Amino acid sequence: MSNKVVLKADNLHKHYPVSQGLGKAKAYVKALNGVSFELEAGKTLAVVGESGCGKSTLARQLTLIEAPTHGELFINDEGTTGYSRKALKELRTEIQMVFQNPYGSLNPRHTIGYQLTEPLDIHTKLSKEEKRDKINEMMRHVGLRPEHAGRYPHMFSGGQRQRIALARAMMLNPKIVVADEPTSALDVSIQAQVLNLFMDLQDEYRTAYVFISHNLSVVRHVADDVMVMYLGQAVEHGPKEAIYNAPKHPYTIALLAAAPTVNGHKNDLTLQGELPSPLNPPSGCALHKRCPYAKQQCSEVEPQLREWDGRLVACLRLEEIYG
Ligand SMILES: Nc1ncnc2c1ncn2[C@@H]1O[C@H](COP(=O)(O)OP(=O)(O)O)[C@@H](O)[C@H]1O
Ligand SMILES: [Mg+2]
Repeated sequence: MSNKVVLKADNLHKHYPVSQGLGKAKAYVKALNGVSFELEAGKTLAVVGESGCGKSTLARQLTLIEAPTHGELFINDEGTTGYSRKALKELRTEIQMVFQNPYGSLNPRHTIGYQLTEPLDIHTKLSKEEKRDKINEMMRHVGLRPEHAGRYPHMFSGGQRQRIALARAMMLNPKIVVADEPTSALDVSIQAQVLNLFMDLQDEYRTAYVFISHNLSVVRHVADDVMVMYLGQAVEHGPKEAIYNAPKHPYTIALLAAAPTVNGHKNDLTLQGELPSPLNPPSGCALHKRCPYAKQQCSEVEPQLREWDGRLVACLRLEEIYG
């Protein structure tokens, strides 16, 4: 059975203008440089990469918080460029966001009952009783007691707050939830519970997830597909099994080597230096200054994603490395 594509990113770019000082030309932070993918109903795309590689920027384009500099986003086959504010408001109900810090989605000054009702007030015509029933049901669903609806966010633990944020995101039964590092601020013991909750809700509602993390071992549990990003671009993208069992891009291999809890995978590939500035990205392959496999051509030619062993990889040297 083939699933319906609910979210499609087509060559998304986001370049932020920044001032270089009086009389100097404008410069651009090239935070996102041509990201494409398709996501089907009920599936999870994990987006991974180190801090600063453009994950949150991607999340803001996907959730219509910002408009891309170039490229287009399709939600349910509908393009989103040139949309009126009103149409965007409607579309936004289909795609919700969960942030690393639950206070990104929760207001500390309102009870959680109020905050779960709010989306229903704005976007539905349900009666008071229907709304209350829906809120009670969702609270139970995320493992909270409905009689706690009158409490404020600070009265809950971090894990509970993230459950509330997820409940709020799910209130209007969105087609897509974009979760930006949703468990990164939680204790490891709580992380697994919250990840399981994500999985349960997906089973129940067939929600598609874009699940963002800097940690490959976190997303292993939830992902169907994995997209590895480096400096605003995807360097490797494919089914979870392919990425974890036999990573091909030097950057993916280095990331996996740095994630100690990924069992059975020992690899010593380490990258030299630090993430270059997106204000002034390197020529050719963005990784070339850090990559142990880099040759002359890597500083001159920009690699494109191409099919290799059951996934897409952007590396010029695959033939030499893998024969
Ligand atoms: N509004 C903005 N203006 C200028 N630069 C930005 C803006 N937002 C993000 N950036 C820059 O874009 C790059 C990617 O940031 P971000 O998307 O937050 O990465 P990540 O979430 O992977 O850590 C960083 O260099 C960041 O400083
Ligand atoms: Mg981020």
